[in-house]
Amino acid sequence: MQKNFPDLITLAIETSCDDTSVSVMRGRIVLSNVVSSQVDALKFGGIVPELASRAHQANMVPVVEDALVQAGVKLQDIRLIGVTYGPGLIGSLLVGLNFAKGLAYSLDIPYIGVNHIEAHMLAAFLEKPHPDFPFISLIVSGGHTMLVLAEALGRYRILGETQDDAAGECFDKVARFLNIAPENGSGMSGPMVDVRARLGDPEKIKFPRPLGNSDNFHFSFSGLKTSVLNYSKKQEQWSAQEINDMCASFQEAVVDVLISKSLRACMEHRVGSLVLSGGVAANSRLRDMLNQQAQKSDVRLFIPAKSYCTDNAAMIGLTAYLKHLEGEVSPLDLAPNPSLRLIEQRQK
Ligand SMILES: Nc1ncnc2c1ncn2[C@@H]1O[C@H](COP(=O)(O)OP(=O)(O)OP(=O)(O)O)[C@@H](O)[C@H]1O
Ligand SMILES: [Mg+2]
Repeated sequence: MQKNFPDLITLAIETSCDDTSVSVMRGRIVLSNVVSSQVDALKFGGIVPELASRAHQANMVPVVEDALVQAGVKLQDIRLIGVTYGPGLIGSLLVGLNFAKGLAYSLDIPYIGVNHIEAHMLAAFLEKPHPDFPFISLIVSGGHTMLVLAEALGRYRILGETQDDAAGECFDKVARFLNIAPENGSGMSGPMVDVRARLGDPEKIKFPRPLGNSDNFHFSFSGLKTSVLNYSKKQEQWSAQEINDMCASFQEAVVDVLISKSLRACMEHRVGSLVLSGGVAANSRLRDMLNQQAQKSDVRLFIPAKSYCTDNAAMIGLTAYLKHLEGEVSPLDLAPNPSLRLIEQRQK
């Protein structure tokens, strides 16, 4: 990463799931980061892939225009395009990827297909100070929960990952069966548990810490989810305080396991920096407790701003920019890959 193009203008596009996001960057500086959320998901009991891709199609041009206007940048000033090509919903990925290819072709500029999970991990590079390699990365999102040893850009070792549900998925489901999920915003379910947990007692109910004492770095959350479900069925009606206590106790179980495994990974691999990323990194208890515990363990902790933890195009732009510095360009026949894995990145 010796080369540096501080004035290079990158346009980045992220359409892996249900949010259409576009960002414009100058070098590593974010000039705009527009996120257009599809708020109807819960009307249908979750995201409907066909509807998500249609909404991306409708949103794409207005969101690009909005991002350019907010950044004060003209289309002709763009020198690089970054776009998510996996993992995600195939129909959603196709809209963003094809738009990016068409734009790059018409402007005669390079584009780079970006792995969404790698981008979550590198979101910490949007901040100052940013981490240096090597670092341990805890990625906790709606679809992933993994611990990664990041040795260099593009050289990653997955130390462990969830064997069933992702932590974010578990937060969303708990919000649903405690009936606290908002009616018109699927992405707000996890945050609702966070909000209610602040008013509850994390010690009230002893929920299990699955794989908490195992000597590997894997996670498991479906048993915990079932425990909360079974507990919630014990009564017909719960008071607001009892629901707050359930949220706090459930959240504490998740946070406990995430923190103890992450810090152990730092110790065992003798790495002094820990990076937290993905949507669940916005969780206030996880941020606070990890801050405290990392300090005690002498580990330097890097957590991106909340807007860079959940899905956003700025992290895609930053990843594309870092790869551009290393001479990477994607071919026009790059296909979207709904099940792209982190380890499938090129190895240097
Ligand atoms: N404050 C919070 N507390 C707990 N969970 C949260 C919080 N904020 C967001 N989340 C959860 O983060 C998840 C969304 O994160 P993200 O957008 O990174 O996931 P995704 O893009 O759907 O999945 P992936 O990145 O794995 O493909 C949701 O499950 C959401 O409930
Ligand atoms: Mg994501």
